[in-house]
Amino acid sequence: MLPFTRGRVILITGAAQGLGRATAKLLAPVGARLVLVDRDGAGARRAATELAVGDDAVGLEVNVLDWEQVQWMVQETVRRFGRLDGLVNTVGGSSGHGIRGARTIEELEIDDWDRTFELNVKSVFLCCRAAIPALRAGGGGRIVNTSSVAGRSQSQLGGPQYAAAKAAVVGFTRQLAFQLAAENITVNAVAPGPSLSERVSAIWDKRSEAVRQEILSRIPMRRLGEVDELAAAVCYFLSDLAAYTTGHTLDVNGGLYMD
Ligand SMILES: NC(=O)c1ccc[n+]([C@@H]2O[C@H](COP(=O)([O-])OP(=O)(O)OC[C@H]3O[C@@H](n4cnc5c(N)ncnc54)[C@H](O)[C@@H]3O)[C@@H](O)[C@H]2O)c1
Repeated sequence: MLPFTRGRVILITGAAQGLGRATAKLLAPVGARLVLVDRDGAGARRAATELAVGDDAVGLEVNVLDWEQVQWMVQETVRRFGRLDGLVNTVGGSSGHGIRGARTIEELEIDDWDRTFELNVKSVFLCCRAAIPALRAGGGGRIVNTSSVAGRSQSQLGGPQYAAAKAAVVGFTRQLAFQLAAENITVNAVAPGPSLSERVSAIWDKRSEAVRQEILSRIPMRRLGEVDELAAAVCYFLSDLAAYTTGHTLDVNGGLYMD
């Protein structure tokens, strides 16, 4: 496993399932102290109980689109563990969570546009805004955001609203990295290709065999990603090995998009 200082306090949003939970699963055995946040409070608490060693993880029910709750989430982290060293923003997606997931501009409702930007971009802004003072207070830290191949190239499963929102995450990551570098806070992003989280597995299962084969034929590795493979990239940015890397978006997509 990558070098990682024991006892670091890492807050992960969207940690009840998918990429967030997979990231927690990699971090727990290397001694990180974890704050697992999700709107699904029972799921977050379950993840904390299943993954943690002793009292080193806590699950909190938080809606990351609510500024009051987001501020409380950081206060609660510092109250329980004394500090905050890393923030991992995984909340997002092209569908589910109240988003209809239109694929074309003709299908796209105004509400769908707004909700997609709230879930994928505003959530990242609010969590970073709340976390940065706590990272500063500890002498620096790490932020890892989640973009998508949709924001780097084009979306296989989503529409223009999702591609635009995930491109916004790349720009936000770069600008924040630039502005926080001198304070020893790195800001990076991971851009997954289609990967088999619970949410995407459900969408994938509903696609016809012909559509699945069409999507797979565009991926040089001819398979979807696993959430553990995405989580490994997140953990790299959190690890000591990535200390001099900031403002970067790392593509994890089986070769679907190459920069
Ligand atoms: N899985 C993929 O194929 C894929 C591909 C590219 C990018 N991504 C991105 O990776 C990230 C994780 O994707 P996933 O498939 O693991 O997601 P997921 O839907 O499986 O998990 C997201 C979690 O966020 C939680 N959540 C949703 N809204 C919330 C809110 N307002 N407050 C708090 N928690 C909330 C959900 O309850 C859920 O547990 C997303 O940003 C997604 O856009 C995923």
